Amino acid sequence: MNSGLLTLSYLIGSVSFIIGLKMLAHPDTARRGNLYAAIGMTLAIFATIFLYTDKNGMALGNYIWIFAGLIIGTVVGTIAAKKVQMTAMPQMVSLFNGMGGACAAIISVVELKHMLHTGVNITDEPVMATTILLGLVIGTVSFTGSMIAFGKLNGNINDKVIPMQQVVNIGLLVLILVMLVGMVTGFIGGDAITMMYILLTISALYGILFVMPIGGADMPVVISLLNSFTGVAAAFGGFLYDNSVMLTGGILVGSAGTVLTVLMCNAMNRSLMNVIVGAFGGNKAGGSSNTESGGTYKEISVSDLAVLMMYSKKVIIVPGYGLAVAQAQHTCHELEKVLDQNGVEVKYAIHPVAGRMPGHMNVLLAEADVSYDKLMDMDEINPEFSHTDVVLVLGANDVVNPAAKTDPSSPIYGMPILDVEDAKHVVVNKRSMKPGYAGIENQLFFQPKTSMLFGDAKDALNKLVAELKSIA
Ligand code: TAP
Repeated sequence: MNSGLLTLSYLIGSVSFIIGLKMLAHPDTARRGNLYAAIGMTLAIFATIFLYTDKNGMALGNYIWIFAGLIIGTVVGTIAAKKVQMTAMPQMVSLFNGMGGACAAIISVVELKHMLHTGVNITDEPVMATTILLGLVIGTVSFTGSMIAFGKLNGNINDKVIPMQQVVNIGLLVLILVMLVGMVTGFIGGDAITMMYILLTISALYGILFVMPIGGADMPVVISLLNSFTGVAAAFGGFLYDNSVMLTGGILVGSAGTVLTVLMCNAMNRSLMNVIVGAFGGNKAGGSSNTESGGTYKEISVSDLAVLMMYSKKVIIVPGYGLAVAQAQHTCHELEKVLDQNGVEVKYAIHPVAGRMPGHMNVLLAEADVSYDKLMDMDEINPEFSHTDVVLVLGANDVVNPAAKTDPSSPIYGMPILDVEDAKHVVVNKRSMKPGYAGIENQLFFQPKTSMLFGDAKDALNKLVAELKSIA
C-alpha cells in the first residue's frame, strides 16, 4: 500500500516538474509553473520521509535531523529569495546550485561508506561504485566551482590565472579519471575511504581552478554549465536510490542547463571552449579598462527628447543592464503608455544577453506589466530599425556596440547585436561615458545621429514622462 502511494507521489512529482519547466518558458505562466514544480517536489519529499521503507521494512527515522534541516533550509531560502535584488540573481542561483552539488557529493560519501560497512567492496559492485564516485566528483566540482562563481559575481574574488593554468587543469582532470577507473577496477588498491577523500579533494581543487580564470562577463554561462553538472550528479543519486523523481529532476536540470549553456554561447557567437579559456570581460569590477576617447559626442535635453518623441511615428526602446540597476522598468512602461496614448507606436528590442542572465529583460519588463506582444527578439526587430524614428537605449551598451560587426580585434567581434544605428535618431541614456560589461568603448555614442541623455535611468525617465505629459 505504502509503496504504491510512494510511486504515485513520485509520478505526480515528476509530471508537475515537467509541466512546471514547460510553463517557465513564458513570463505569463512562469510564476505558476515554478509553484507547480515546487508543490510536486514537496509532495515527493514528504512521501519519501513518511512512506519509504527499506528492504527490511524499516522506515527512514531520524526525523529530528530531517526536519531541523528542512526548517533551516526553508527559512534561509525564503529570506534570501525575498531579499535578493534582480541584479544579484546570478550570484544567488550560483549559491543555491552549489548547495545542490554539495548534497549530491555528501550522498556519495555516505553511500560509499555504507556499501563498505556492509562488507561489499568497490570491485564487487562496479556499476554501483561508478555511480557513487561519478556523483562524488561531479557534485564536488559543481559545489566548489559554484562557490568561486558566487564569490566572483559578488565582487569578493578577482579573476586569477595561475601559471600554466590550462595544463594544470587538464592534469587534474586526467588524475580524476585515472583514480576513478583505478578504484573501480581495483587497479588502485589501498584503503577505499582514504582514496575516496583524495578523489574528493582533487575534485574540489579542480572545481576551484576551472572557474577561477573565467572572465566576469562569462560567469552566467559557467553558472548554467555548473547547474547542468548538479543535475547530472543528482540524477546519479536517483539512479543509486532507484528514486524516479530524483532521476527525472536530475536529468531535466542537467539537460536544461546544457541547452541554456549552448543558447548563451550562440547568442554571444562564441564556443564553450572559448568561454572557458577566453577571459572575456574579466576586468568588470572597475568597468573601464579602455579609457581611450572615441571623439566628440553630443547631448540632448529632456525637453528636446520629449518633442522629438512626440513627433515620431515609431519609437523602439532598447533595455539593458542599467535599466535593471536603476529599477526603472515601471517608469519605462509609463513612458510607453504616454507615447501610445499620443499615437506613437512603441516596441522593445530584446537582445538575448542584455542584462546579466538569460531572460533578464523579459522578466524585468513583465514585472512592470509590459505586454509580451511588445517585446521583440533581436532577429525580429533588427529589420525594423531602418524605419524607426527614435531608438531610446536605456542602460544598454555592449548589445548595441557596432564594433561587434566592424572591428575584428574587439573581444565582442562576431556577437550578434541590435542594429540601432539604422534608425533616424539614437538616444542613449546612461550615467557617463564609461564602457559596459565587456570593458570596451562604444563608437555608437560618437556617431552623428546619436545623442546622449546622461543620468540614472529612473530619474531621466521620470523627467521625460513629466515633460511628455506637459506637452501632450
Ligand atoms: P552593459 O554592456 O553592461 O552596459 C550597461 C550600461 O548601463 C553601462 O554602460 C552603464 O553605463 C549603464 N548603467 C549602469 N547603471 C545605470 C543606471 N542606474 N542608469 C542608467 N544607466 C546605467 O549591458 P548590456 O548592454 O545589457 O549588455 C550585457 C552584457 O552582459 C554583455 O556584455 C553580455 O555579453 C554580458 N552577458 C550577459 C549574459 C546574459 S545571459 N544576459 C550572460 C553573459 C554575459 P554608466 O556606468 O555610464 O551608467
